[in-house]
Amino acid sequence: MGKLLELKDLNVYYGAIHAIKGISLEVNQGEIVTLIGANGAGKSTTLRTISGLLKPKSGTITFAGNNIAGSKAHEIVHSGISQVPEGRRIFAEMSVMENLDLGAFTRKDKEGIKADIKHVFELFPRLEERKDQIAGTLSGGEQQMLAMGRALMSRPKLLLLDEPSMGLAPLLIKEIFNIIVDINKAGTTVLLVEQNANMALSIANRAYVLETGRITLSGDARKLAASEDVRKAYLGG
Ligand SMILES: Nc1ncnc2c1ncn2[C@@H]1O[C@H](COP(=O)(O)OP(=O)(O)O)[C@@H](O)[C@H]1O
Ligand SMILES: [Mg+2]
Repeated sequence: MGKLLELKDLNVYYGAIHAIKGISLEVNQGEIVTLIGANGAGKSTTLRTISGLLKPKSGTITFAGNNIAGSKAHEIVHSGISQVPEGRRIFAEMSVMENLDLGAFTRKDKEGIKADIKHVFELFPRLEERKDQIAGTLSGGEQQMLAMGRALMSRPKLLLLDEPSMGLAPLLIKEIFNIIVDINKAGTTVLLVEQNANMALSIANRAYVLETGRITLSGDARKLAASEDVRKAYLGG
């Protein structure tokens, strides 16, 4: 298992606010790694920096051997990283199909795109049933599925998921998390950001705990789930 992504001593600011304070982490090929932490810890900031929406003040982001810190967002998508943003942010006025087509903007291989739409519909049969529906009229869970499907349409090597469980009922969260496991089994490496530490630790190989911009704990996901410190702080006892 080679290293696919490595962050080293990353510092990110919003003006004078030091949001990410020298974090280092790595994601190996084939893993599901989760970054857990409370609201405001810096999880989304970390993902937005990896995907090129924010520029780090210092530190390196190495993806598949290249330093991508400071690269433009579309170049990063081309290199094989796709992000599902917090709060889904699908194109509400467009149909399900149009959203998926837009996810393939980096590609020209029509046959491959067709095959991948088929694959997305296998992962999310509900999207196929609703392929002509206007995306803004989908339920929250369906919008999450669409956002994930759209992200997969660029055929990423690494999928970044920002709180996919947010605002969803427990059964639906289970369904979404099962699909994350399926996506991973089909060959996509996953970096999963979550406040729902219980669910995230249940599917991840390894985990990092983020507290106000610093990584305070890391290790095997099952060991962290069993740890007294993590249980007290994040798992409700
Ligand atoms: N656009 C912004 N401008 C200024 N501060 C921000 C902005 N976005 C986030 N922050 C601050 O950065 C910190 C980390 O936020 P964020 O990464 O969104 O946390 P999380 O995703 O873990 O909830 C918080 O203190 C937040 O208030
Ligand atoms: Mg967030």
